[in-house]
Amino acid sequence: MEDGEAVVISEVTAGYGRRTVLRGLSARLPRAGVTAVVGPNGSGKSTLLGVLAGTVRPSHGTVRLGVTGRPGYVVQRDAVSDALPITVRETVAMGRWASRGPWRRLTAHDRSIVEECMAALDVAALAGRRLSTLSGGQRQRVLLAQGLAQEPELLLLDEPATGLDVRAEQHIADVLDRAKVRGVTIVHVTHDLAAARRADHCLLLDGGLLVAEGPPGSVLAPSVLERAFAGLHHVLR
Ligand SMILES: Nc1ncnc2c1ncn2[C@@H]1O[C@H](COP(=O)(O)OP(=O)(O)OP(=O)(O)O)[C@@H](O)[C@H]1O
Ligand SMILES: [Mg+2]
Repeated sequence: MEDGEAVVISEVTAGYGRRTVLRGLSARLPRAGVTAVVGPNGSGKSTLLGVLAGTVRPSHGTVRLGVTGRPGYVVQRDAVSDALPITVRETVAMGRWASRGPWRRLTAHDRSIVEECMAALDVAALAGRRLSTLSGGQRQRVLLAQGLAQEPELLLLDEPATGLDVRAEQHIADVLDRAKVRGVTIVHVTHDLAAARRADHCLLLDGGLLVAEGPPGSVLAPSVLERAFAGLHHVLR
């Protein structure tokens, strides 16, 4: 691993049971920067995040993480049960347990981080509400606040802005910019090509293969995107 790199993925093959999803994927992700991961539905983006988070085990290949502590992982929205009987504040506070184990007593420092993160995502007013009583977009912002509260060196975000209104979306973009300034390495799975263009680095997946890797300007060029989203030439400009 070289200076300036936070993650090195080498020849990773991974999937679920006998279903292979990622096939021999290699990539190097910059430290203190945003890597956008784009590609069609089912191309393996969430699986790649699962591999980085350690929840999906590669059957072949290696992932080297040049960061300490567990990655923060904000899962795709439909993967979260809405039946959890916990409040917004408790949900965000769970981010503080990540490195120290569950149900520990929070220190004053922990509590102030929880309040800060709720304020940053504009959910402080919802602090006492049950997660199950929130709208989809509100819940998504709470999950992002939880990821930030963990203060991870590596933050994995699976479509964090999906279903959010334009103001919340802008809010998230600002929060990510600030995290990046603090030196956080962010992997951002998104279908928003405009957001992907603002990233520092970009991976394009299709059918579990890495179709292109590099600066967003080249990876997201219509001629390259066309290879993954065949037939959509006219809308990719
Ligand atoms: N838990 C699972 N068990 C079995 N197969 C799965 C599981 N999760 C995903 N898959 C399969 O793996 C493939 C890649 O799925 P993945 O969720 O990584 O795609 P994605 O790029 O994140 O798609 P989307 O844009 O729809 O979120 C798909 O064919 C999917 O059906
Ligand atoms: Mg996904």
